Amino acid sequence: MKITAFNGSPRGERGNTHIMVEALFKGAAGRGAEVENVLLVKKNIKHCTGCFACWTLSPGKCIIKDDMAALLDKYMNSDIVVIASPLYSDYVTGIMKDFMDRLLPIVCPRFEKGKDGQTKHVKRYGKYPAIIMMSSCGFPEQQQFELFKLFCERKIRSGSADVIAQIYRSQGELLRETKPKLIPFIEKYKEVLAKAGSEIVEGRTLSPGTMEELEKPIIPEEKYTRFVNISCNKIEE
Ligand SMILES: Cc1cc2nc3c(=O)[nH]c(=O)nc-3n(C[C@H](O)[C@H](O)[C@H](O)COP(=O)(O)O)c2cc1C
Repeated sequence: MKITAFNGSPRGERGNTHIMVEALFKGAAGRGAEVENVLLVKKNIKHCTGCFACWTLSPGKCIIKDDMAALLDKYMNSDIVVIASPLYSDYVTGIMKDFMDRLLPIVCPRFEKGKDGQTKHVKRYGKYPAIIMMSSCGFPEQQQFELFKLFCERKIRSGSADVIAQIYRSQGELLRETKPKLIPFIEKYKEVLAKAGSEIVEGRTLSPGTMEELEKPIIPEEKYTRFVNISCNKIEE
């Protein structure tokens, strides 16, 4: 099983989202999956220009010459793709949005009704990778991912993408913390992520127990807010 993560964080491997991907991959690789972590910040991905050449002039191929052609091959040759992005203004980063817009060549221009009765594009290929949505954010509550969840629900309802797991982490700024008293909490969360990775390889889904564990705060919300505000005080001093 080939799993590829596309991470849209501008921080790349220095980021919180990277830590989540690596922990998930530890579990997945432990069950024999071939994993690859693509940091989109290191790639040359131009904006979609809306020319629709990928539907007209060169069906299935974008005419922009940058790294996206190779990334599309990686995407389509994966069994599972992890769309990993920090939460920026309640949604994905600009880097990830450009990447997602540039996936347009993998569908056809023709319209059809989706399972939810709303119109979607006809698929170009017989097989697409299943998708894991993953995000980290700075605020303390899991409700911060409402927009992300709605995006996934729309994909699932219409049948346009097979979203097999959604992994969201509020309190994301804790993940890179090195304070000894925080380490056990962070490690516990990483272990749950590794378990999620092994479950995905075994059954392409997450057990209800693991989903529940993934949603739990790393530390109580009030403690996290205090921790952030103390750090802010130090910056402002
Ligand atoms: C421009 C910008 C916008 C952000 N918007 C949000 C937001 O809407 N909600 C939130 O909880 N955190 C927000 N954050 C915080 C990031 O989501 C958080 O720090 C995340 O864990 C960063 O992940 P990374 O280290 O992988 O880049 C924002 C950060 C930046 C720089």
